[in-house]
Amino acid sequence: MRTRLDHLVVSALQQGAAVPAFTCYDFTTALAVVEAAEAAGRGAILLVAPKTAATPNGLRLISALRGLADSAGVPIAVQLDHASDLRVIADAVAAGADSVLADGSSLPYEENIALVREARAVLEAQGHAGVVIEAELGGLAGDEDRAFGLDAGTGTGTAGLTDSAQVEDFVARTGAQLLAVAVGNVHGKYKGEPQLRWDVLQDIAVRTHIPLVLHGASGIPAEELVKAAAMNVGKVNFNTELRTGVLATLEAQTGPYRADGENLQGLLGKWNASAKDFAAGALSTLTK
Ligand code: 13P
Repeated sequence: MRTRLDHLVVSALQQGAAVPAFTCYDFTTALAVVEAAEAAGRGAILLVAPKTAATPNGLRLISALRGLADSAGVPIAVQLDHASDLRVIADAVAAGADSVLADGSSLPYEENIALVREARAVLEAQGHAGVVIEAELGGLAGDEDRAFGLDAGTGTGTAGLTDSAQVEDFVARTGAQLLAVAVGNVHGKYKGEPQLRWDVLQDIAVRTHIPLVLHGASGIPAEELVKAAAMNVGKVNFNTELRTGVLATLEAQTGPYRADGENLQGLLGKWNASAKDFAAGALSTLTK
């Protein structure tokens, strides 16, 4: 069943768990995520990248994911990830996204706040006042769709680590329902071991009651991720590891399935299994 993203996350946190969110560039991956969530009896979040949502086919994918969420046996939310273009935000919500990350983290502080408020105003004007808005404070290094090795632990994004002193003001003025933070996490691959700044996260967590979001979870060891919910991190985003696994599977399996009568159906089954295994692992880690 499709569920409000904030309700899903708050209810997980009340049980000491966090909800995994997975970038879906395609329907095969989304089907696998929902199947894994159903098998685990837990909710999950389907993320759509802004570059996907900026195309007509991407908007159709969002509509399809909404239908998938509606028919799921567990709570599923569909979120537009990392969007800073108001047109893309409006279109994605019209297509069926019920949550948006209005991401002004690369902008100066006041402009970041202004972007989130504008996104809310645009959605309200569109009759979508119920859309859940996540905002991001602090800059994450890395590319959301292409993974290259990045230095860990230094908050090397445009704006660096989240400044905990700004958190109360930022949350109050944006009216965001979730807050994405930069605590040494990066999008893509970590060069060396990730060095998450749990001290900074702790400092952020005491300054706001809204759930926090950890992006860039690929490459963060499970024993670190399990600590997240205790610091009010109720949503954890995965992309790189999921697609790395799918690509490795396709690379290994394309030859044999071509030889087996150009068996695309069989190959898609392997894609599904790879994504499902990854999603099952993340679901299990975050509910420990
Ligand atoms: P990774 O690609 O590092 O897993 O990050 C995903 C993410 O944060 C999507 O918003």
